Amino acid sequence: MQLLDVTDLNTSFFADGNVIRAVDGVSFSVSKSETFGLVGESGCGKTMTALSVMRLVQPPGRIVKGQVVFEGKDLLSLSEREMEKIRGGRIGMIFQEPMSALNPVFRVGEQISEALMIHKDVDKKEARGRVIELLKQVGFDEPEKRYTQYPHQLSGGQRQRILIGIAISCGPSLVIADEPTTALDVATESQIINLLQDLVNDSAMSMIFITHNLNITRKFCRRIGIMYAGRMLEQNSVDDFFKEPLHPYSKGLLSSIYGLMGDQKRLTAIPGSVPKLAELPQGCTFHPRCPYAMPVCREEEPIIKEMGKGQWVRCYLY
Ligand SMILES: Nc1ncnc2c1ncn2[C@@H]1O[C@H](COP(=O)(O)OP(=O)(O)O)[C@@H](O)[C@H]1O
Ligand SMILES: [Mg+2]
Repeated sequence: MQLLDVTDLNTSFFADGNVIRAVDGVSFSVSKSETFGLVGESGCGKTMTALSVMRLVQPPGRIVKGQVVFEGKDLLSLSEREMEKIRGGRIGMIFQEPMSALNPVFRVGEQISEALMIHKDVDKKEARGRVIELLKQVGFDEPEKRYTQYPHQLSGGQRQRILIGIAISCGPSLVIADEPTTALDVATESQIINLLQDLVNDSAMSMIFITHNLNITRKFCRRIGIMYAGRMLEQNSVDDFFKEPLHPYSKGLLSSIYGLMGDQKRLTAIPGSVPKLAELPQGCTFHPRCPYAMPVCREEEPIIKEMGKGQWVRCYLY
């Protein structure tokens, strides 16, 4: 059994009589101890997918359809109270902006303690001991000193380590990391990636690693899903993807990496731009940019086709 099974997830925004389908028919699974990379350009629905799994979508957004089964439980039918136990307890979350996710007026150690005490039956003293251990685990060598510091006394990378500490404090079976290194410089980014990799390797934890940077997933993830305009266009193992990606969009992404190695704008090398979700083309959403587009691609959206074990593609070429 998979740890997480997401099936035909649809999340839309309803405003001024318009419907924006931010997540459209997305399905994927994450198995135990696996890191799944969710990759795509800005605005393609990665964060909304994560928020939908956590049931944190805010109005005017709403989950319209789909199934999210985690540890055998159908999350979309749980009560809010049951869901609160899962969030931060069984599923940890790490977000992009470490400063805004921490409370500036509390010591960082207390903030991890707080997270621990919400979900585990521990008193303040016990919690403190566990937080000191956690601080060591996320790479601080003076945990007692760190415990008493405030967020503004830490660097961006150190703050992200604190948030990672909060995310893993209750021993979750899944961590969702949404672009956790985007706000960091390159050197700090690779330290944080190494830390996440160590944490996954040293435990039975699974991770959904969300990024716009395909290159990071190569080292870090076992499987990836490529999102575009709210859809999942391809799912594949990282090994097969980097050898021979299936979808034309994936091929474009890969060649733009090899063409512009080291350049931050690597994802923009495909001609044209991502369509706005409110003005999607008919047919396949990628067809206006696709070098292989056929007449049928302009007419009707392709369905998802299974190509092999763990390989899916949404494209008429297959
Ligand atoms: N508060 C909102 N109101 C209306 N539409 C939104 C809102 N938040 C997100 N969206 C829509 O959802 C799409 C996906 O957003 P998001 O999941 O944040 O993208 P990503 O994380 O891939 O950058 C956006 O392109 C936008 O059209
Ligand atoms: Mg996002």
